[in-house]
Amino acid sequence: MKSYVGIFKGKDWLETQSWSQEDLTTLLKAAKDLKQEYKSREPSADILRDRTLFMIFFNRSLRTRNSFEAGMTQLGGHAHFLSPQDIYVPALPEDEEAYKTERIADVARVLDEMGDAIAIRIYGDATKWLYGRGHRTIEEFARWARIPVINMEDDVYHPCQEMADIQAIDEHLGKFRGKKFVMSWAYSEGLKPLAVPQSCCLIATKMGMDVVFARPRGFELEDGIMKLCRENVDRYGGSFEETDSMEEAFEGAHVVYPKSWTARAALPGPWGGPAQPDKQLALELARKYNSWICDQAKMDLTNKAIYMHCLPADRGMEVTDEVIDGPQSVVFDEAGNRLHSQKAIMAAIM
Ligand code: CP
Repeated sequence: MKSYVGIFKGKDWLETQSWSQEDLTTLLKAAKDLKQEYKSREPSADILRDRTLFMIFFNRSLRTRNSFEAGMTQLGGHAHFLSPQDIYVPALPEDEEAYKTERIADVARVLDEMGDAIAIRIYGDATKWLYGRGHRTIEEFARWARIPVINMEDDVYHPCQEMADIQAIDEHLGKFRGKKFVMSWAYSEGLKPLAVPQSCCLIATKMGMDVVFARPRGFELEDGIMKLCRENVDRYGGSFEETDSMEEAFEGAHVVYPKSWTARAALPGPWGGPAQPDKQLALELARKYNSWICDQAKMDLTNKAIYMHCLPADRGMEVTDEVIDGPQSVVFDEAGNRLHSQKAIMAAIM
């Protein structure tokens, strides 16, 4: 059996910040190994034979659902897709409604009797856009389930995306230290959570990269996440800077990750904000910065940077077709790596 199988048995995968750089590097190596096996069609079905993953999706998904389902099949197990509408909606005590919801404490302990891990995606409307409620929901599953709980993206973190992203960076740059990583806001419309930019800044600082966070004023991340990024720099080296110029950030970059999220003034959260999400204000604030598109002129400012995005990307708003379909784009490597990195996580914790 491979050395990484069961190495973190029983551990939850809720975010990466509580994992050491060394442990994440172990998972990264496992993901590379599993990718190699997959590409050469070597079977790995003995790793999780007959194991079951329960997946509860409060939000839609292309990459996450398919990579977990395919990943479990390839490891010899099975993934169940559970839509909240088709079960009793798993709820925190304050959200319970008779015969419509079921307390998370009960859902977690029922699934615990039948399978080997529970994976959850929850953000946005499912949390009423109350920042932190999605993560609290997943933590509640983890509190009650003895089997591992996996965060498939909540309103604070997207740790599965982080692992696929560092795998892509490793493949294309070969190292993290000394490389400039730019997490930039990019223009789009509609409400979008902070999970991906926050996760990107956390993982890039944890890997010791020189991280620049670029955003127009008003599009800052949660203060607590910024603090964690600075703590990562103190512990792992590299640097972490913030700017309100996309062009300045792109200069000399090795990696750029331009992605939209919603302005804090339009969302409820620890920063204040409205009691309900304000879609009109979100739109007005975003449109003020519609020049924040990743185009070839901006890519030409970089040090031949790779272009990254978690997908789906809003073409013509966040990025031009020329860039996302161009030679510097690695978005499909990132998407493909969701399969391999999640297989590594599941093999290690299940
Ligand atoms: N990047 C990502 O999580 O994609 P999906 O929303 O399609 O799962």
